[in-house]
Amino acid sequence: MPSLNIGVLVSGNGTNLQALIDAVEKGKIKGTVSVVLSSREDAYALKRARNHGIEAVFLDPEKYPDRDTYCKALARELKRRQVGLVCLAGFMYILSPYFISQFKYRIINIHPALLPSFGGKGMYGYHVHEAVINSGESVSGCTVHFVDEGCDTGPIILQSMVSVLSDDTPEKLAQRVLTEEHRIYPEVVRLFSEGKIIIENSTVKIKD
Ligand code: GRF
Repeated sequence: MPSLNIGVLVSGNGTNLQALIDAVEKGKIKGTVSVVLSSREDAYALKRARNHGIEAVFLDPEKYPDRDTYCKALARELKRRQVGLVCLAGFMYILSPYFISQFKYRIINIHPALLPSFGGKGMYGYHVHEAVINSGESVSGCTVHFVDEGCDTGPIILQSMVSVLSDDTPEKLAQRVLTEEHRIYPEVVRLFSEGKIIIENSTVKIKD
């Protein structure tokens, strides 16, 4: 298989981006992080990318008249670099149907809960972990899934579970979940880069 060009979309700290960069540098992923695109100028993820010599571009949503135009600009940046896999890593912007159609089954996201539970509108960051604790669940975790036009609804690729402890706060739970995110996100990208993720009737099969 040819080496995969990976584009990562970010808006914040970028610890998942870092996990992907580290896995590429260690040779675990057969590919390159070709570009990092951010919807926020102050995203620390941009600095992480530049520290590794990766092109990092801030595209300001405010400079575009609407979502469609902004997402077309994102798609253009990715296509210019022949990106074959788009990884959302804390990207706080809803992609347009056009964008999704351009990269069908080539966009993946990491969500800090066990989807289909605790997903959907408003379920991000602190809110997810707070909702999990308030619901009395004894387990949480993270999910890597393909992105479709819904919110957190695309086919699930891989999940990892963590315990919810009796004295958990959203911050403590977030940290435990994040450790698992950093393990499974690079693993999914590795599988993708090796052509081991197959979709049959909208369901994911992994051959490893
Ligand atoms: C992670 O918790 C991820 O699950 C969610 O956004 C957060 C991003 O964190 N989609 P980071 O920017 O990768 O540190």
